Amino acid sequence: MKLESHKEYKTISGPSFFSFIKHFQLHPVFQLQRIMKDYNYDDIVRCSSFLYLINSPDIARLILNRDQKKFNQDDFVGKRTKTVFGKGLVTSQGEMWRNERKLLNPIFNSHGVHSFMKETICEIDKVIDRWDSFAKNKVVFDWVDEMGSLAIMVTGKVLFDCNFESNVKEIKEVVNGGTSYIVNGLPFFIPYWIPTFSHLKLRKINKRIDTIFNPIIDERLKKLNDRNDLSGALTSMLKKSNNSKQKRRLVLDEMKTMLSGAYFPVASCLSMIWYILGKNPEYITKLNVEIRNTPKGYIFTEHFYKDFPFTTSVVYESMRLFPVAFSIWRKSKVSQEIDMYKIPKGKTVCISLFNIHRNPKFWKDPEIFDPSRFQGENLNNRPKHHFMPFGWGNRKCIGDYYALMVVFLTLIRVFKKFDIDIIPNQKLIIKKAPLISPKKVYGKVSLVGE
Ligand code: HEM
Repeated sequence: MKLESHKEYKTISGPSFFSFIKHFQLHPVFQLQRIMKDYNYDDIVRCSSFLYLINSPDIARLILNRDQKKFNQDDFVGKRTKTVFGKGLVTSQGEMWRNERKLLNPIFNSHGVHSFMKETICEIDKVIDRWDSFAKNKVVFDWVDEMGSLAIMVTGKVLFDCNFESNVKEIKEVVNGGTSYIVNGLPFFIPYWIPTFSHLKLRKINKRIDTIFNPIIDERLKKLNDRNDLSGALTSMLKKSNNSKQKRRLVLDEMKTMLSGAYFPVASCLSMIWYILGKNPEYITKLNVEIRNTPKGYIFTEHFYKDFPFTTSVVYESMRLFPVAFSIWRKSKVSQEIDMYKIPKGKTVCISLFNIHRNPKFWKDPEIFDPSRFQGENLNNRPKHHFMPFGWGNRKCIGDYYALMVVFLTLIRVFKKFDIDIIPNQKLIIKKAPLISPKKVYGKVSLVGE
């Protein structure tokens, strides 16, 4: 598209490179929020000459939906992400992306995901049953670590039909190592073939992940496709190619992508919910009432969420306040106009979901945790795209149903079994990662009725 040179565009202001990096000691999520505030909640802020920060849900929706073809993922975050996840769905583009998404959509649609509800509950119970001894001995434990183990166990069973119990520690290490590569060293990108210290470290991590998945692939190749899960879909694609080296690499990359997606954001989301409940304990009592009121023998169906409206409002409000995948990155393929703003070719665009969810132009008292925003009329009167924790448009998160199922079922199983006591007023320290993930959240449990 050619832009008319005489046309009046809306002004985009923003900090110079040096004032942009001034707040570098902050976690990027808070750094970007600071910039939004400094520039009066403008829809778009230009940071130095290379980064366009998006704070408006209306502009975000245009970029991710109407104008998505004019952007790609070749920005500096996208390149680092690709180095970690290879050809997996999160970074693949064009025809390859379409084929991968088509293959995986049936596994991750509502029906596909909820067909594994029983197994999900079973894995959650395995992890929280270990808390019986914590309850008995009044142990204060780290909920972030437990949520990590829980998310990995569920992922193993549901997506790969495996028991990951003996791999939990290693998976935490490799996924944390891989994802921290994405944020370390930004905004620069050095090609992967150059053997820098961080690249050598990442190569080791990638090898260790392949060592976990290669035997799983071999095992599934021997079986008939009897289970309609992620491993099954990927290995049947591999069979069709006669186990070609190229396709095997794709399958390994996809497995790594999905393991990371199903572990890290889900564990972070749950950890943030526990942290928020520690700060707002009055909601714990209300959750107890709703969850414990479910009749004995309650049967979970795909639509169980409607029977837990208060829990739903707490989960959504937590995801508004802390959208764990806090930013979406794109590169502008052409010079273009969006809502009268000019975005030149080659510029990186960062859609901050955190800023969008905390922008006072769209949310009243945005810093306050208030689940009533997601109840009754409040919910119906707000445009849907003001809340986009899973992104928007055709590259919206494929794991949204899966993530919500694990989060809801975890809350339900924990509240049914335990009275929880999260230590109040803990300082929130966030890991250096592309997600909002607290380092530690401490709390105790006691068995209900004891
Ligand atoms: C609370 C949990 C989660 C949150 C908040 C979340 C958030 C997001 C967001 C915002 C995007 C859009 C990125 C973009 O447009 O560039 C995304 C994409 C993606 N997510 Fe998630 N995610 C979660 C869980 C999961 C799970 C459980 C999986 C897999 C099992 C997963 C796999 C993916 C993949 C593969 C993509 C790329 C999709 C594509 O480009 O077609 N995510 N996620």
